[in-house]
Amino acid sequence: MTKPTMTTTAGAPIADNQNSISAGSRGPLLLQDYQLIEKLAHQNRERVPERVVHAKGSGAYGTFTVTQDITKYSKAKLFSKIGKQTEVFLRFSTVAGERGAADAERDVRGFSVKFYTEEGNWDVVGNNTPVFFVRDPLKFPDFIRTQKRHPSTNLRSPTAMWDFWSLSPESLHQVTILFSDRGLPQGYRFMHGFGSHTYSFLSASGERYWVKFHFKSLQGIKTWTNREAEGVVAKDRESAQRDLYEAIENGDYPRWRVCVQIMPETDAEKTSYNPFDLTKVWPHADYPLHEIGILELNRNAKHYFAEVEQSSFSPSNIVPGIGFSPDKMLQGRLFAYADAHRYRVGTHYEALPVNKPRCPVHHYHADGAMLFETPERGDAYYEPNSFNGPVEDRSLAEPPLKISGDAARYDHRIGNDDYSQAGALFRLMSDEQKAQLMSNIAEAMQGVPVEIVKRQVLHFYLADKAYGLGVAERMGLSPSEAVPQAAE
Ligand code: HEM
Repeated sequence: MTKPTMTTTAGAPIADNQNSISAGSRGPLLLQDYQLIEKLAHQNRERVPERVVHAKGSGAYGTFTVTQDITKYSKAKLFSKIGKQTEVFLRFSTVAGERGAADAERDVRGFSVKFYTEEGNWDVVGNNTPVFFVRDPLKFPDFIRTQKRHPSTNLRSPTAMWDFWSLSPESLHQVTILFSDRGLPQGYRFMHGFGSHTYSFLSASGERYWVKFHFKSLQGIKTWTNREAEGVVAKDRESAQRDLYEAIENGDYPRWRVCVQIMPETDAEKTSYNPFDLTKVWPHADYPLHEIGILELNRNAKHYFAEVEQSSFSPSNIVPGIGFSPDKMLQGRLFAYADAHRYRVGTHYEALPVNKPRCPVHHYHADGAMLFETPERGDAYYEPNSFNGPVEDRSLAEPPLKISGDAARYDHRIGNDDYSQAGALFRLMSDEQKAQLMSNIAEAMQGVPVEIVKRQVLHFYLADKAYGLGVAERMGLSPSEAVPQAAE
């Protein structure tokens, strides 16, 4: 087979890719060797900033297939028919580690799905947990700072983590999940995914339902203990990437059952908890899971940088029939992601192949760095215009949502029960799971100042006495030292 001739990026054939041009065989080199300059200069530009969170990840393409009829709840075209298939791209990630971090670390996992629907991209940018550490986006950058490196030592700081968590009781539910067996999955195939936030479904007849998305692993849940994970990391820092990539290459396609919890719009006034609070789950007894379909991953990316690194997900990407909710965290995220992509990837990030919608796009955003598709607007380059440019379709408008109340900074810690759901989760665990949870916490708290430990132990105690006292004991604290309130 004849091999193609190598060229410069401008297409000119290259005569020698082994030797730079030098004055005499020993050098020095000549500035006219553009080929050398292009090669070195290109290398200097081969990275984009890593994601500020969720930097280490793995991705693959696949298919979403509708298995149940939910058209009475949502008019979204991707759900229109049983058997209908939509292409997807899914990126999994860890949260705190940098791009070179090991996969088998105790951390929340990201679970981002891009559905390339005929009415635009729908992105579910979720985690492997149904809840989150904070409930107000104003606290997200503070929280993330505690997960990243200390500014002076450049080390991760357990003191910062537990200080923040102990001062933010709304984190208790998610902390309980993170330090349980679920906090260290054996690989991305062996965990569930959750949209976590409350979103909405909008029906063809104009009804709104509040919904939560769940992705149930059909591979089952498999987790590592801390000791097992140490052994894995010592041998393989890319254990989750390897597992996912090889399974797909071998035709062992991972699958998830996609389900939804559905709450009629007016129920939101009646539940004892705020259904838009990201630190709470909706009890399944009240809002059972309805299956929608099956998600299968069946094609690896060909080029990690082009497809996985440049993939750009945003909770703001919704399609007709799916909407947002008042959830404050979701509202904050609706701004944050596209802003991150414009900075990290570039103005026209959505025109890159992995992000490009699989349907025609008709917008008036033009110019800017790397505009590589020529807009075909002719004289219709503003809107409204008299030259047959694209126009809005008001039939797609969502039904109005009633909002009331005075504008203020409402204290989200007043009157909010941060303990019941965390305690219920603890009581659901087997004795072995409880023991593992409490030992994992004690291990992670080593070296943390005792006042912070005690403050955190009180939260565990308020969720469940056995939880608080079990952690206290593992930290070498007697019940009266750890929770003096209990002795009174
Ligand atoms: C990534 C912001 C909360 C899941 C990111 C990125 C930013 C961000 C800036 C990097 C995006 C990029 O460069 O491509 C925020 C803010 C939050 C928030 C401001 C709260 C106000 C959450 C929550 C979840 C979540 C609650 C899950 C329920 C993810 C995932 C990624 C990510 C999965 C990685 C996306 C990918 O695979 O490319 N977040 N985040 N984030 N976030 Fe958040």
